[in-house]
Amino acid sequence: MDELRHAGARAAAIAADHLAGIADRPVWQPVPGAERDWLGGQELPETGRPLDDLLEDARAHVLPYPMGNGHPRFFGWVNSPPNPAGVVVEPLAAALNPSCAGGDHAGPHLERTVVRWLAGLVGFPHLPGGGLLTSGASMATIICLATARRQAALADGWDVREDGLYGRPPMIMYVTEEGHSCLHKAAQLLGLGARHVRTVPVDGAYRMDVGALRTMIAEDVAAGLRPFCVAGSAGTVNSGAIDPLGEIADVAAEHGLWFHVDGAYGALGILADGAAPRYEGLDRADSLALDPHKWLGVPVGCGCALLRDPAATRAAFSLVPSYLIDDHAGDLGWLAEYGPEQTRPFRALKTWATMSHLGRSGVTRLVNHTTDLARTLGDMVTRADDFELLAPVTTSITAFRHLPRPDGPDALDALNRAIPVAVQQRGNAFLTGTRLGGRDALRACFLHPDTTEDDLTVLLDEIRLAAKGL
Ligand SMILES: Cc1ncc(COP(=O)(O)O)c(C=O)c1O
Repeated sequence: MDELRHAGARAAAIAADHLAGIADRPVWQPVPGAERDWLGGQELPETGRPLDDLLEDARAHVLPYPMGNGHPRFFGWVNSPPNPAGVVVEPLAAALNPSCAGGDHAGPHLERTVVRWLAGLVGFPHLPGGGLLTSGASMATIICLATARRQAALADGWDVREDGLYGRPPMIMYVTEEGHSCLHKAAQLLGLGARHVRTVPVDGAYRMDVGALRTMIAEDVAAGLRPFCVAGSAGTVNSGAIDPLGEIADVAAEHGLWFHVDGAYGALGILADGAAPRYEGLDRADSLALDPHKWLGVPVGCGCALLRDPAATRAAFSLVPSYLIDDHAGDLGWLAEYGPEQTRPFRALKTWATMSHLGRSGVTRLVNHTTDLARTLGDMVTRADDFELLAPVTTSITAFRHLPRPDGPDALDALNRAIPVAVQQRGNAFLTGTRLGGRDALRACFLHPDTTEDDLTVLLDEIRLAAKGL
């Protein structure tokens, strides 16, 4: 154990040095050829190596090549820096190394608490057992939609777990073109078929057009199909748009559809000053996906599926083999009965630590700070004559594009498509792009507590400089 004690202290020092010095290093740099070979070409050693040697290798060959999301000028995708409380408890979770499938040990009890906390933070109704932690929102979405699928079948008098989907009218799901790809993946995986996922048009702010939703449902019913679910977004990945959740909830209630909300990134935005009215209707959803490993900064990976009716989810998944029967499991049973994972990692410890470290006020401060940054960048690009804002800023994402010269639309698309990688390669900021409203766009997502307004100026200057070289 002396070796572990010594190496553990060293690992903590390496992690602290890494995090403390992050802002002084490039946001991202390509992995040089020799390091790539080292990382990707190793052979398994015949004899085991001491812990100290492994730490030295990690310090020298792994930590210098991060993805970049720890840096305050990382604005790509939806990837946050790790909260320090999450970082320090990770070794403890590994030291305990439980499977949080269920049972009477710390992990499952703590998981019930953090799920309740998450639901409470965003105002989602919570019954005991009404949610579980997952690898991320993709898995949370599978759990939510599988529950929806089973409930729809049940309402029609059959059991999808028993019968499969064979010979039944296709189940139809509704989502906008701004809906995340994980919704499509889940629908495909659950056997619904890509062609049964309808693309509902959006308005000028990239929010679901609920009138069009109504028309599409009516057409599908008339064609003998089975509308079963509408998935709204509480913060799209492209622009942070929040669908009119209350209106969608009305339509879902009228037609007996499952109402799922993808709040993986944006649900926490409800905490920003003045934001709550935009989320009206979130509390009427049947299910909500919310990722602690996004805005909260819980170290990857940690998603959460929140479900209004825990019993429905348990019925969609529970399959307890004889060797796992637990007569002392209590009314809620095991967490593994609520999703596809059997052996489940201890995600609750880092989530509990992060949320406890921030407290409700700290989460609110973080959300306000980052949404303010997105709004400020929106104002800056609106004022600048070489940038254009492409969507209203409603959460902590700014979608925009660079217009350095009076070029035609194709040239502007090509330029804006090339800018993110050119910016990344300069190492001073990290930006990613997307397609929005048929145009190539830049998008900056703010999640880092240490990002400042000066960093926004750096970002726009970096874009200008990178574009000049293209
Ligand atoms: C809006 C939204 N939904 C869903 C997801 C998928 O989440 P995960 O990558 O945790 O599976 C993402 C990921 O960025 C997202 O931004």
